[in-house]
Amino acid sequence: MYRIAVIGGTGPQGRGLAYRMALAGHTVTIGSRDAGRAAEKAEEIAAKVGNGAVISGTDNASAAADADVVILAVPWDGHAELVTSLAPSLSGKTVISCVNPLAFDEHGPYGLTLEESAAEEAQRLAPEAAVVGSFHHVAALTLWKTDGPISHEDVLVCGDDQDAKDLVMDLAPAVTGKRGIDAGALRLARQLEPLTAVLININKKYKTRSGVAVTGVGGKA
Ligand SMILES: NC(=O)c1ccc[n+]([C@@H]2O[C@H](COP(=O)([O-])OP(=O)(O)OC[C@H]3O[C@@H](n4cnc5c(N)ncnc54)[C@H](OP(=O)(O)O)[C@@H]3O)[C@@H](O)[C@H]2O)c1
Repeated sequence: MYRIAVIGGTGPQGRGLAYRMALAGHTVTIGSRDAGRAAEKAEEIAAKVGNGAVISGTDNASAAADADVVILAVPWDGHAELVTSLAPSLSGKTVISCVNPLAFDEHGPYGLTLEESAAEEAQRLAPEAAVVGSFHHVAALTLWKTDGPISHEDVLVCGDDQDAKDLVMDLAPAVTGKRGIDAGALRLARQLEPLTAVLININKKYKTRSGVAVTGVGGKA
């Protein structure tokens, strides 16, 4: 069991991941720019988890400082400033980025064309952390509203530090009930992050909450 900080945990994606991690028995701290807002969100999540939940809320820096594992669940806008400010607290830790740098225009959502992915940017700005890209494709409402494991989806995990990647693959059952899938090096976050734009388009077209499921790895993942 880990002490997990969810930076931006007051938003829907952070709330959903925090809920799943707390339900699995991890100690969870919600981080926010406003400690009071984080505490309120922690209460909401604790009420849904029920008895035994260990979940609290504080400012982002304190949450990161006290954690073994830090989940970045913030928008792309402001990401660089936030990671820069938290970098000292992220040193030596596994940092999970689910950040999707997307934009929207009259044709719908699309992935921004960037020189590096959000996960790579986090790694560059917090070089002493082991950054892993994961949980990009599980919709926030699916995390919050689905009863039990989201077993029809897979969690893809990319990173350059194998121990950190193994840790995140072992956290994935809290969401899907099964180990995450090793999707390769951190640079592959450049492919994983914008894929979310495709899922959002599908959601709109089919009025659903789509996700990712990978064939051919059953029993080996
Ligand atoms: N929503 C989804 O279904 C989904 C699914 C997969 C991945 N993601 C990714 O997960 C991340 C979070 O998604 P979300 O929908 O939860 O986002 P969000 O609601 O827009 O933001 C999450 C939290 O980030 C904090 N925040 C906002 N602007 C900030 C800034 N400039 N600097 C620092 N903190 C800031 C806010 O918390 P405070 O105001 O309390 O600090 C906010 O509650 C995004 O990168 C998104 O692409 C989302």
